[in-house]
Amino acid sequence: MKSATVTKTFGILTAGGDCPGLNAAIRGVCRPAYDRYGMRIVGISNGYRGLIENYTRLLRPEDFWGILTRGGTILGASREKPFKSRSKDADNNLGEYKVAAIKENYRALGLDCLVVVGGNGTNTTGWRLSREGLNVVGLPKTIDNDIVGTDRSFGFDSALAIATEAIDRLHSTAQSHNRVMVIELMGHKAGWLALYAGVAGGGDVILLPEMPYDITAIARHLEERARGGKSFSIVVAAEGALSKEEALLDKKERKRRRQEEGSPSIAYRIAREIERTTGMETRATVLGYTQRGGIPSASDRILATSLGTAAAELLAQGRYGRMVCISGNSVDSVSLETPAEKIKTVPPDHYMIDTATAVGACMGI
Ligand code: F6P
Repeated sequence: MKSATVTKTFGILTAGGDCPGLNAAIRGVCRPAYDRYGMRIVGISNGYRGLIENYTRLLRPEDFWGILTRGGTILGASREKPFKSRSKDADNNLGEYKVAAIKENYRALGLDCLVVVGGNGTNTTGWRLSREGLNVVGLPKTIDNDIVGTDRSFGFDSALAIATEAIDRLHSTAQSHNRVMVIELMGHKAGWLALYAGVAGGGDVILLPEMPYDITAIARHLEERARGGKSFSIVVAAEGALSKEEALLDKKERKRRRQEEGSPSIAYRIAREIERTTGMETRATVLGYTQRGGIPSASDRILATSLGTAAAELLAQGRYGRMVCISGNSVDSVSLETPAEKIKTVPPDHYMIDTATAVGACMGI
């Protein structure tokens, strides 16, 4: 006999950039929802876009069997932000139309709740939809680990393993050629991945968006290493790293100057600056989307499964307007308002910065 449940039918979507663990989370929600509570599950394709276009299908158990270890998302994803286009397209009311279409399809599909699996943007949209009267439950995923309200998000651990392996591989080639290697990792606004991978991979310089760098401090550090007999170095930079001069400019001006400079991305820019100031032979590597692809780590599978099953419990109890989260060693939930419109950046007094500097890394300042 199935247990009693408040939610009879729910829709589920994955939105924003994909990451390892999305399928594990889908399975984590759907298995108990179906097996234990007998809920009807509507799979929504391609994030919020699928709900706007009513691109949906009923999920059967065979859809969420055997997906625990698979990378990507069986539902597809997109960066569709219905509320954002609302203000941008005020003239043609495209955004109004999108939100109205979501509400209409939610009702037409007979949903009691919408489960949204995503990062800051996805959970922010979820919160806004709940203010429009929809029942929403959120799950936190991102390789950036920058969601407010949860200690950890799934995707981060897998990306960290990939980034660390890449740094390890750069070490041997850097050493063979006596070169400086700059590796660029994802993280536009938050430098968690660069900080953790920098420490795990023994980076000599670690550059975060939260700590604008001084090229002379970097050069000094690399030259000191060379004087100490270390003729190679590894610089780990978050893609959003910026110089202290750039930090004084507004976003538009910063973008204009970068375009003028012609560096394809921050790794190339820093590599050029290092060569110019130190004369050391320097190479750039941009790790890119490999950080988001492939199978989830064991830890991400566990995290995504725990968060997924916790979300199923919220559905069963009819506790809507919440995002499941990790708090210390427990799975819990917070109001969807908690992560909405925020980014969890690395605080300047975070213990990992002390850890990095204690083992000789320069934070660019
Ligand atoms: O949100 C995760 C993230 O991986 C960021 O670190 C990165 O800047 C961004 O996605 C890029 O993704 P896309 O090109 O898919 O927008």
